[in-house]
Amino acid sequence: MSAQLPLPHIPGVDAAGIVDDIGDGVDGVTVGDHVFGVVDLAKLGGASAQFAVLQLWAHKPATMPWEQAGAAGTSTETATRALDLLDPQPGTTLLIDGAAGGVGSIAVQLAAARGIRVIGTARTDNHDFLRQLGATPVTYGPGLPDRLNALGVPRVDRALDVAGAGSLTDLLQLTGDPAAVVTLADFTAPTHGVRLSMGQLAGEPDGRHGLSTAAELFTVGRFTVPIEAAFPIQKATDAHETAERGSRRGKIVMTVDDAPDL
Ligand SMILES: NC(=O)c1ccc[n+]([C@@H]2O[C@H](COP(=O)([O-])OP(=O)(O)OC[C@H]3O[C@@H](n4cnc5c(N)ncnc54)[C@H](OP(=O)(O)O)[C@@H]3O)[C@@H](O)[C@H]2O)c1
Repeated sequence: MSAQLPLPHIPGVDAAGIVDDIGDGVDGVTVGDHVFGVVDLAKLGGASAQFAVLQLWAHKPATMPWEQAGAAGTSTETATRALDLLDPQPGTTLLIDGAAGGVGSIAVQLAAARGIRVIGTARTDNHDFLRQLGATPVTYGPGLPDRLNALGVPRVDRALDVAGAGSLTDLLQLTGDPAAVVTLADFTAPTHGVRLSMGQLAGEPDGRHGLSTAAELFTVGRFTVPIEAAFPIQKATDAHETAERGSRRGKIVMTVDDAPDL
């Protein structure tokens, strides 16, 4: 379960489970396979349920916990899409603003796996967490270019804003090029000449290939989906209340023990 679009009270859009039925024209999957992915919320309903219809999916590695698989879809698609748009090359430097969050923590790992040097912003409490994920941490907020300069990084090649906290002017200063910046959450982007990526909502190509990449990276110990807490679906209220509290580190997941025969 995750609520990541800028809409109020949106139900979960991520799910993992065992394939029960397969739609027309879908191939590469068999009834009984273990999969994870993203539902099409507008057409096919949410994911906080015993059954969900996945629009984007990949096979779940046998060793990947269901909780992680069930929380991976949207953050992985989004991070992959943003990285594809920025296209940072191996050996170059990418700054991720909001790197410890749901999308940011996935973007750090996928970028590091592409051979990119990642600098991620987070509150001080999350700096060790970012190091574990593969990023050099720096504290977010006003004065970011000065703090990066003090780290010996006066400029970065690309910047991804996941937080939408008003950093675009700083990110432009650090990259020197609006085309080198993408935001996922700052709706003032057009006034800065910066791209706001909204994925399928804006008719953009999605980052669905990132799901299988994430699965492959998981099997070699180079990918994890941070989980804050898991609740049985009967405790959905507790799950939502936990999600609404700030200062989380990881996803809130709802689990379903068993699904009835239809
Ligand atoms: N456009 C799209 O396609 C798309 C898709 C998915 C999500 N989103 C949007 O992306 C945003 C992030 O989603 P998420 O799931 O990653 O949220 P999240 O898990 O709540 O993470 C947000 C992160 O922002 C960081 N943060 C807080 N204040 C900050 C500041 N002043 N400067 C920089 N970072 C700050 C926090 O870091 P600390 O924990 O270290 O304080 C937190 O980890 C949301 O607005 C969401 O709606 C957009």
